[in-house]
Amino acid sequence: MAKAKTTFVCQNCGAVTSRWQGKCEACGEWNTIVEESDIGGGIAGGPVSRSRRKGRPSALLPLQGEAEEAPRIRTGIAELDRVTGGGIVRGSALLVGGDPGIGKSTLLMQAAAALARAGNRVIYVSGEEAVAQVRLRAQRLKASDASVELLAETNIEDILATLGQDKRPDLVIIDSIQTVWTDVVESAPGTVTQVRAGSQALIRYAKSTGAAMILVGHVTKEGQIAGPRVVEHMVDAVLYFEGEGAHHYRILRTVKNRFGPTDEIGVFEMGDAGLREVPNPSELFLGERNGKAPGAAVFAGMEGTRPVLVEIQALVAPSPLGTPRRSVIGWDQPRLAMVLAVLEAHCGVRLGQHDVYLNVAGGYRIKEPAADLAVAAALVSSLSGRPLPADCVYFGEISLSGSVRPVSHGGQRIKEAEKLGFRQSVQPLVGPDAPRSRDGETIEIEQLPDLVARVAA
Ligand code: TYD
Ligand code: MG
Repeated sequence: MAKAKTTFVCQNCGAVTSRWQGKCEACGEWNTIVEESDIGGGIAGGPVSRSRRKGRPSALLPLQGEAEEAPRIRTGIAELDRVTGGGIVRGSALLVGGDPGIGKSTLLMQAAAALARAGNRVIYVSGEEAVAQVRLRAQRLKASDASVELLAETNIEDILATLGQDKRPDLVIIDSIQTVWTDVVESAPGTVTQVRAGSQALIRYAKSTGAAMILVGHVTKEGQIAGPRVVEHMVDAVLYFEGEGAHHYRILRTVKNRFGPTDEIGVFEMGDAGLREVPNPSELFLGERNGKAPGAAVFAGMEGTRPVLVEIQALVAPSPLGTPRRSVIGWDQPRLAMVLAVLEAHCGVRLGQHDVYLNVAGGYRIKEPAADLAVAAALVSSLSGRPLPADCVYFGEISLSGSVRPVSHGGQRIKEAEKLGFRQSVQPLVGPDAPRSRDGETIEIEQLPDLVARVAA
């Protein structure tokens, strides 16, 4: 084995330096650099050999030839299958990250049970909870009857030795990657070096046996325990499980996927007996809407292939402060600044002396610039004190010049809105063939001042 040497590794981003520093130059975090002994192993490769072996040539292959779709295991949980691109790929490694307590173990136990019931061999390795605790959760989830095999173990060598016995598993779940450790490196469990070395060994096992491997990783704000970010580039797919404090629903988001799309979301609701799938998220997000207050606009959004309607709420009030407040929850702060600037420059809407609060209802987070038009409508409605029509949706991107630009999937957005009883859509101007409401009213806006005139009229 190579001689152990000492390196300094940032516990936040995994950057390696040759000496200790107070601040990591790669990610800018303070006090995250820790001394770790390293076996000289690379991140991606196997053990580093110091022997001067001569390389063996391999055959070069043509591009044309036998090709095949990756074989997948469907979990039967439609929301999970959607985000993975149609099921978990055999021989691949998947990282499921999220805050502690968000429901990762719950989700994976439900998936494990569903797969075991479908005849797959599933091994659930719990490094965090004792077997009794895992069983208790399974009881609550009514999954106890499924033939999932449990292993409470944290040492990688022991885990691999157990997995390697007789029949190969179809799926292995490691809950969590921060608790496992290997004999090969000296660092404490949870450090970047251990997390990396452990993940590497598990991924190698998955690739060589064809078992699918799911690694669970906690996202931590503190730099003490290595975040799942250091594992992201090693795995084939990365899913993040998110949710907003008081709300019961959870969103599973694809961040990376070598075998599928990366813009899909899965929506779940946490209940007394585990996670329930939410096939129609719009109904959930619009559930508590009253629709009569000024400052509320419904945005017809898209998440991957799925339309999602959400309410955007704005509150604009004269500010007692020299520098008025700008507060955004669920959207992009710079994007709000841009919409405010365009409203001021091109529409004469002056908000320089006003506090502006913007909130996306239900704790949902919007990523699309298509929300610009709905945000502008909500802002102007709040400022003028005039409620927007309750049966109207908005979508469209605003450019710096004040023009409203077309966005993709207009037809699907309108269809979803109609399904939920909305009769009007305010949207960009898009030629005669463009999708429009069948029985409702389509209002095309070319320039932002036209919207302002409509809302404030
Ligand atoms: P858990 O899956 O343990 O989260 P993680 O593995 O991400 O840390 O879920 C923890 C929370 O979920 C806990 O606060 C209890 C709640 N919960 C329910 O509300 N219903 C259930 O059926 C289960 C199993 C958990
Ligand atoms: Mg857990």
